[in-house]
Formats: sequence, structure tokens, C-alpha cells
Amino acid sequence: MSNYHIKHLEEYYQVYRKSVRHPENFWEEIAEEHFVWRKKWNSVLEWDFSKPEVKWFNGAQLNITENCIDRHLHIRGHKTAILFEPNNPGEEARHITYKELHEQVCKMANVLSEKGIKKGDRVIIYLPMIPELAISLLACARIGAVHSVVFAGFSSTALSTRVNDCGAKMVITSDGSFRGAKTIDLKGIVDEALKECPEVKTVLVAKRIHSDISMKAGRDEWLAPLMDAAYGDYPPEIMEAEDPLFVLYTSGSTGKPKGMLHTTGGYMVYTAYTFKNVFQYREDDVYWCTADIGWITGHSYIVYGPLANGATTVMFEGVPSYPDFGRFWEIVDKHKVTQFYTAPTAIRALAKENLDFVTTYDLSSLKVLGTVGEPINEEAWHWYNDHVGEKKCPIVDTWWQTETGGILISPIPFSTPTKPTYATLPLPGVQPALMDENGQEITGNQVDGRLCIKFPWPSMARTIWGDHKRYKDTYFTAFKNMYFTGDGALRDEVGYYRITGRVDDVIIVSGHNLGTAPIEDAINEHPAVAESAVVGFPHDIKGNALYGYVMLKETGESRDRDNLKKEINQMITEHIGPIAKLNKIQFVNGLPKTRSGKIMRRILRKIASKDTSNLGDTSTLLNPEVVSEIIKEVL
Ligand code: PRX
Repeated sequence: MSNYHIKHLEEYYQVYRKSVRHPENFWEEIAEEHFVWRKKWNSVLEWDFSKPEVKWFNGAQLNITENCIDRHLHIRGHKTAILFEPNNPGEEARHITYKELHEQVCKMANVLSEKGIKKGDRVIIYLPMIPELAISLLACARIGAVHSVVFAGFSSTALSTRVNDCGAKMVITSDGSFRGAKTIDLKGIVDEALKECPEVKTVLVAKRIHSDISMKAGRDEWLAPLMDAAYGDYPPEIMEAEDPLFVLYTSGSTGKPKGMLHTTGGYMVYTAYTFKNVFQYREDDVYWCTADIGWITGHSYIVYGPLANGATTVMFEGVPSYPDFGRFWEIVDKHKVTQFYTAPTAIRALAKENLDFVTTYDLSSLKVLGTVGEPINEEAWHWYNDHVGEKKCPIVDTWWQTETGGILISPIPFSTPTKPTYATLPLPGVQPALMDENGQEITGNQVDGRLCIKFPWPSMARTIWGDHKRYKDTYFTAFKNMYFTGDGALRDEVGYYRITGRVDDVIIVSGHNLGTAPIEDAINEHPAVAESAVVGFPHDIKGNALYGYVMLKETGESRDRDNLKKEINQMITEHIGPIAKLNKIQFVNGLPKTRSGKIMRRILRKIASKDTSNLGDTSTLLNPEVVSEIIKEVL
């Protein structure tokens, strides 16, 4: 029996039982057999959730890029590591072999090092989905710098907040990006952001759209000439297993974004192991995850997990609708993709279009389909299964989070029988628990509760950058000795898990995690606004859309409402990015509040979903009259 590659259900149960009974032996065997370490660990696991402190493979030394690149050079140096598919189908795809990737990563490592970046320094990466993005992550890891990728759809304010929060000295960006028929002026956004970031000394600029941009003397440099001049080898910096690898920001229900810190050894072992099993990856497969590397999915399952397995990983620059809605399937056909991993929101959008966009292409290369980021509804699941997988490809509904680093609950294809809308069973090493509101674990099946994890797994985030207290308060305080996910879930009669959604004030819109508080803060910056509340409501493509209740100041009352709506969405675009724009805005005379002054979002959520039949007892509110006023206007 191999712990590393599960091939049938009985084997899954055996491996799972072992992983729970003897977690340290289980992970030690995997770590020993499948990776290159420069020094072995002193202990496999040290942990204390009350602090919280978690250390995997403590004392071990390694470099993750040696595992993702160097060790493949002898056996698969000429194999494609990254298959870059450009935005424009007329531009040729690029096959970057492991040998070329090695050279590019080493060159960039030399560039970073010549620019004064040292082990432990933070580098912000704000790039579109072009090869330089993956190369930048790996170059940082090569020299031991901590990368922090900011999704290139975020605004200048969001970017500057992240640059300052992690104290980055360098930003890597491009002149712009292609997105379907549009171009985006990324460098302009960086320039705007950096007005607020005095610590950034260097900006490296990749050329992509060849636009006319301004370069600030002494700060900005074109990347290409530096790469051309750089030496093509760089010895990997030897890192401790628990040294930081990256910081990735995620929205919290309150306050500023949380910089989740991931470390090196455990993250590598877990992402590689889960990639191999969840996608049943085999040597000649062509694997494609459509996420952006700006999100955790791209970090773990476009870059680190696949490369640690010596896989060919597709990187797609464009969007599913350009030049038409057949683009995904055209790419699958062209590159003979074997595993395809995307988000439910993309499936829902494509399922609305003519089926010819799918049937025109030969999708017979596909073996496994995946989804991630939000619950998948039954209709979308069946469309994916019937028309893309042609009922031959198991669908892995993978549940996980930025904080978890890797997939925690998912079917293992060809082993776990799938069930629409269910993420099914925990992966080996993952010990879920459902908890009730009094902090008691709910045992048995056919139950639902708050989803927690009782035991550490190797890729869990270790802290929030610069704010360990917030890490403890957010994840380890609600339930004693447990990691609390913020999600609700149910467990069916055979023990399968179904994620029912967030139980906090995070809303998942098109698979993007958005906190209500930062959106409300952005709205409240508008001079005409007194107060606001944002809630989610069901949307047939986005999963959830945003509904904003806005109370105006007296001085704002006379303003044109349509203009105000536009300005409010503009404020949100500037502060966060277009993904956080409100679908609906309702101007109200007051917001329903408890006697202690807390906004009753539960009521607002129900009204936004047009479900006003059972609002519960509103008489205890401070201002019950506003509820009927708000309802009257909606109906
Ligand atoms: O609510 C869950 C939802 O996405 C949240 C995590 O978002 P983020 O940190 O942005 O990471 C997304 C990519 C890993 C979770 O708390 N979520 C993620 N996957 C699923 C899901 N909800 C239901 N089913 C899933 N498969």
C-alpha cells in the first residue's frame, strides 16, 4: 500500500485511519520518500492550538524550488513545466520546459538579489497571468524572500494597504495586462498606490502590452534587460522548514485584510500530496487550473503542487468569454488537457450559453474535473458532468481556504463515489468536526453545525502577518482547541460533508471572498453617505451578489439617486476593486439595529433575498419601523 497515491476506496479508508491514528508517522513517511531535504527534521510535529503554535518538520532544511525544479532536471528537463496560453488565441502558446524554468528562475533570483532583496524580505507581486508571475514567485522562494501576490484586479488603495502591511521593499509588475478585448493599465495603478508607500525602493516592470507608460527614475526598471544580463544559475538558499514562504491576503469579516502567512516544509509536502491524489495526477498528464495565481488556488495548484510533482501546468492569461464562450473548451482540445479545475461561477456562466460552444471541441482527453471556491449548485454540477465530462470524469468538489493552504475535503477520483454538491470526505490527515453554538462537538451523521478542524495539517497558515492576536481571535477562540473555518457544513448519512456557506460576515461573490466591513468603509467614505450595510443575496451566476443599504446624510438627500449609485460603486472600485461593486443599492432612512446598536444583518439579508415572510421578532429592535419602510420599497 502506498500512502502517497490512493487508488481505491478501501485504500482511502486504510490510509485515512492510519493518518488519524499516527499522524506523525504518516506525514513523516511521505516527507521522507518524496522530497529533497538538505537536513532532516528534529521533530515531525509540535503543536499547541491554545497559543496557537504549529511547527511541522521543525529543524529540517530545504528549498522548495529545488523540489519544484532542480530535482526534475535530470529526468524531465525537456518536459514542459509551464504551458502558457495567451489571452489572444492568435498568439502562440509557449512551452516552458523545466530546464528553461530553472534558468529563468535563477536569472530572476540574481536580479532580485542584485537589487538588494535578501532572505526574509517581502516582495509584492502585482502581475497578470503571464509566465513572469510564476517565475517571480519561484525566484523569491529561491532566495528566501517572502512573496506576497496581490491579484491584479485589485485597486491602487488595496495594493498600497498590502504593500504597507507587509513592509515590502519591492514591487514586481507589468506595463499592463490583457483581459479579453480590454487592456488594463497596471503600471498606472502601481504608481498611484506607491504614492502611499515610501518604503518601496524598486519596481521591476515586465513588458506585456507595450503601452506607453512612465518610468520613475531611480525606482522603476524594465525587467527584460536585467534578465538578459543576469547569470542563469543561482544556488538555492537553504531555508528552515518553518521559514516563511509567502503572505497572501484574504478578506476578514472586519477590518483590514489578513495577511495569511504560510511556511515552507509543511506547505510543500501537503500541496504536493493533495495535488497527486485529488487530481490523480500521472506523468504524462496536462493539468489546467483556471484560477489566477493571485489567489491561493493558483499558488497551491498552479505553481507549487503541480511543479513539486514534475507536472505540466497550464497558465491561462485570458477569460472564459474571449473571443467567445468556447475558449476554455478550445484550450482543452488544443492542449489535450487531462485535469481541468475551475470555479462554479465560471461553470454557471458557461452553462447559460449555447451548447455548441462545448460540443464543437473534442474533450475526450479529460479524466478529472474539479471545482473550488464556493458551493456548487446541483444544476451546474450536472451540466459540468454531462457536457464537459460526458459522465466519464469524476468531479472533485474541493473545499478549502486561503488559510488552509491546501484542499482539506474532497473526493479522490475513482475512489470516492461523488455526490452532487458534496465535497464528500476529509483527505488523509484532516480531522473535521461539526460544532454547535455552545461549543460542543456534534457527533454522528445526518447533522449540521459549524465546521472546525481538530488536528493540525501540514499546510495550515501559521499566523496573520504582524498580528498573531488576530489570528488567535479569528480562528482559535470560538471553539476550544479547534481551528474554526467560518463555514457551516452538514454531514450526511454516510459521513459525506456538504459545505453550506459562511456563517460570518464574509460573502463569496463569484468565488471571491469579500468582507462586508471593508466595503461598508468604502461606501461611507462618500461625502453624502451617513451609514451603510452590505449583505449578500442569491445570484444565478455569481452565487452571491452584493446588496447595499445606504443611509444618506441630510446634505445628500437632494442628490440625484442614479448618480449617487454610480459614485458609490466608483468609491468601492477605487478602494477595493470592481469585484466588490454592489449589484443593488437601496437608499433607506435608517438601518435596523439592536438595542446595543448592532446592525441586524439577518433581517437585511432576508429582505435582499425577497424572503420577507419570516423575519422573526423585530419588536426588540431599537427602530422596528425602519424594517417595514425598507420592505415597502423593495416590494
Ligand atoms: O466558504 C468557503 C468557500 O470559500 C471560502 C474560502 O475562500 P478563499 O480563502 O478565498 O479560498 C478559496 C479557494 C480555496 C471557504 O471558507 N469554499 C471554498 N471551496 C468551497 C467553498 N464552499 C463550498 N464548496 C467548496 N468546494
